[in-house]
Amino acid sequence: MGLNIIILAAGEGRRMRSRRPKVLADLAGQSLIGHVLDRAREFAPERIRVVVGHGADAVRAALPDTVEAVYQPQQRGTGDAVAHALEGLAADDLVLVLYGDVPLVQTATLAALADAAAHADCALLTVALGDPRGYGRIVRGETGGIERIVEDHDASAEERAIREINTGLLAMRAGPLAQHVAALDRDNAQGEYYLTDVIGRVRASGGRVDGVQPDFAWEVQGVNSRAQLAALERAWQRHLAERLLGDGATLRDPERIDVRGNLTADPDAMIDVGCVFEGVVHLGEGVEIGPHCVIRDSVIAAGTRVHAHSVIESGDIGRDCEIGPFARMRPGVRLAEGAKLGNFVETKNADIGPGSKVNHLAYVGDSDVGRGVNIGAGSITCNYDGRNKNRTIIEDGAFIGSDCQLVAPVRVGAGAWIGAGSTITQDAPAGQLTVSRTRQKSIPGWKHPADREGE
Ligand code: UD1
Ligand code: CA
Repeated sequence: MGLNIIILAAGEGRRMRSRRPKVLADLAGQSLIGHVLDRAREFAPERIRVVVGHGADAVRAALPDTVEAVYQPQQRGTGDAVAHALEGLAADDLVLVLYGDVPLVQTATLAALADAAAHADCALLTVALGDPRGYGRIVRGETGGIERIVEDHDASAEERAIREINTGLLAMRAGPLAQHVAALDRDNAQGEYYLTDVIGRVRASGGRVDGVQPDFAWEVQGVNSRAQLAALERAWQRHLAERLLGDGATLRDPERIDVRGNLTADPDAMIDVGCVFEGVVHLGEGVEIGPHCVIRDSVIAAGTRVHAHSVIESGDIGRDCEIGPFARMRPGVRLAEGAKLGNFVETKNADIGPGSKVNHLAYVGDSDVGRGVNIGAGSITCNYDGRNKNRTIIEDGAFIGSDCQLVAPVRVGAGAWIGAGSTITQDAPAGQLTVSRTRQKSIPGWKHPADREGE
């Protein structure tokens, strides 16, 4: 009675004009088959089997260990592909057939399909299209039940007028599926073993076929060309944008946001145009993201403002911080409440305390910065000695003047002041002024070289 999921992915995808197998093409930051596998895994099935053929090695290499690859040496049709993947399944196992190039089918739709198969002999995912050209058509009988599928190539003019099409996704028990698939012939316009002929066979043996429809038409759109890939990417982005709007976020333009992963936002978050979100990102209440920011795998707490053109990677950002414009947070930075990173500031692997400010043209890496610290313009931590990364510790209330170099490992004590232009190679004591630059001098009687002629 277990659930088994078969994903067809042996086709060539010639129309993509790519060296890479089609199912490895990227949609919203993930491969087409990666999307399908994510959905499949949500059902915790007994087995996931991917039928590979064209570019088999590359597709296999992209599959996680828990997924079985089944090799179909010749692409003799969808019926043949499924036949290769049924070995070892129990007769009453439920089989869900998915396509590796139909990436955006949603969990609720698959659940409805599996559910329908529990009450019928076969459940088919169908959809009505304005332009059904190219697809298999669903032929229904007088009482409205599904009778068979006719492929576009084999359809009569009358059948071609049917707008309800076969998405290709179906669910049924392994026993009857294996039996019908074994009996298929290739007596059709394309000379292929059509999985779709199983439907007529189920009906001929007195079985019932139920149709299930997806909530959204884009869920069942396949990718055969780059134009279709681009159109599907836009449809998906539009959907994600609408979800964010529904959650109470403001999008300055829902057409100009790209989410390549999972972005969630609390009410009154605002995202300006041209931003890209990657991986898992959460924006707290009232967070504002300025135009053209790139934010990956980060959590940004309520009230924080990220200004234009900032890039944030694996950041853990507290409330009411201010970042950018043109700030770059590399992985591993924690900003505590009310901290500020200004323009052309780069940070990496650093802990920056509450209310601390790094306002201009600075680099803070491998550092622990306390609360209320001020790091002046152009100051940097020298964290790398050519062999090791070393840590800089700047305690609460310290003030680092402009254009300082803090050569790690080094500690600046609480409330210490570092004079502008200092190179700090030894610990600076708390509460004292430390300066390391040479004393300023002026040379009286100095002459410009041009005025020295003939002297
Ligand atoms: C198939 C359906 C059609 C449906 C359409 C939806 C059949 C006979 N027809 O047609 O009713 O409307 O999908 O998109 O099933 N594949 C293999 N091995 C093969 C052949 C195909 O793995 O030998 C895989 C392909 O990689 C692809 C999927 O099966 O992921 C569908 O194959 P494709 O050739 O695109 O089928 P269509 O002719 O479009
Ligand atoms: Ca297709």
